[in-house]
Amino acid sequence: MSKFLKLTASVILFGAIATTGANAQDADAGKKVFRKCAACHAVGKGAKNKVGPELNELIGRVAGSLEDYKYSKAMTAVGEEGLVWNNDTLTEYLTKPRGFIKGTKMAFGGLKKDAEIENVIAYLATYSASAEQAAAEPEEMAEPAETADATSGQAPAGLAADAVIPDHGNYHLGRVALPEEITAWDIDVRPDGAGLPVGKGTVADGGVIYDESCAVCHGVFGEGEGRWPVLSGGFDTLTADRPEKTIGSYWPFASTIFDYVNRAMPFGNARSLSADETYAVTAYLLYLNDIVTDESFELSNETFSDIKLPNEENFYPDDRLEEPNFAKGTEPCMQNCGDRPAEIVMRARVLDVTPDNDEEGGAGGID
Ligand code: HEC
Ligand code: HEC
Repeated sequence: MSKFLKLTASVILFGAIATTGANAQDADAGKKVFRKCAACHAVGKGAKNKVGPELNELIGRVAGSLEDYKYSKAMTAVGEEGLVWNNDTLTEYLTKPRGFIKGTKMAFGGLKKDAEIENVIAYLATYSASAEQAAAEPEEMAEPAETADATSGQAPAGLAADAVIPDHGNYHLGRVALPEEITAWDIDVRPDGAGLPVGKGTVADGGVIYDESCAVCHGVFGEGEGRWPVLSGGFDTLTADRPEKTIGSYWPFASTIFDYVNRAMPFGNARSLSADETYAVTAYLLYLNDIVTDESFELSNETFSDIKLPNEENFYPDDRLEEPNFAKGTEPCMQNCGDRPAEIVMRARVLDVTPDNDEEGGAGGID
């Protein structure tokens, strides 16, 4: 029952996303623009400082004034001189951050289109209680004196005027990734467990999460609802005509399950699980596949290496040395390789490889 409710809810959600484009509010469009900011800034309930300060209650905030964020000297200074964030100051800053505040450490080239700027400000204003009030009040902020020249013009029309040329690398492109960004991207887990975060979770805990966040698509027992991927069973089918390749029957390493779930699931809400939740739900997937049998089993960064998947031994590290041409170090043959011309023995259409009804062949599986 609850399954259906959830499915309906997500359909409605997708519907909503698809239609907002047509009659977009400024703030809605601004939410999209904010993706350009989101690598460095959070806004909304529970927003924390990231690379940049959190942006709740931004409208009316004195620049550089959050106590728990370490601003550049330049940002603190303009705040002390009286710069307050409102429609106008934000427009100037977001057009050309380093033109408006020389020495700001915000490594962002600026937004090119006026509409993007208006919309992102409208979006941020929805998280500022004082927004309406501030808009009604006359401006009384002081321009930072030394940057007045840089801000007097309109938004630069062309790329060249706008571009900040980085002074690093051969090609002066992009910028050096911040350590925080590298940490956020570097989430891969290797078969030997390298890269696993610290954490733990039991089969029983995982069952609760699974029922709530996964079963709607993958089935209560991992059997797969409709054509969503099957996550359990399929043992002894690998040599059959239609092998059922599941994480239990086919995947070689439990690390791939953890990595994949952590990276990509739940579908549509990826990266929403904590490390503990990911351990728990991975433990539960092992349980659904009879790889662990005890509901109190706890998977953690420490117990992880005890887990062996049944099909691991059928995979081997391919160093290419077994491959005849490669091993000999010869160039691979690119023309007239066989002793007779290629002959077509079957066509896909005749072979009927594409299932044409819902019963035949499920979705999913890594091929
Ligand atoms: C690459 C990271 C990065 C991106 C992308 C980025 N910012 Fe920033 N932002 C920062 C940093 C760092 C600071 C602090 C600047 C300083 O102290 O000089 C900052 C400061 C700010 C401030 C001043 C806040 C305060 O408390 O005074 C505002 C407003 C702001 N950013 C808005 C935005 C918006 C809107 C976007 C997207 C259009 C954006 N930023 C994109 C890193 C970023
Ligand atoms: C809205 C439907 C949906 C939900 C909810 C969902 N998944 Fe998935 N899952 C998918 C789809 C679709 C794929 C295949 C994605 C692809 O191949 O690109 C998939 C693939 C997977 C796979 C890989 C299967 C294989 O053999 O390739 C695993 C493991 C998995 N999901 C686990 C989970 C877990 C754990 C949860 C809950 C935390 C979850 N999924 C929630 C739709 C969903």
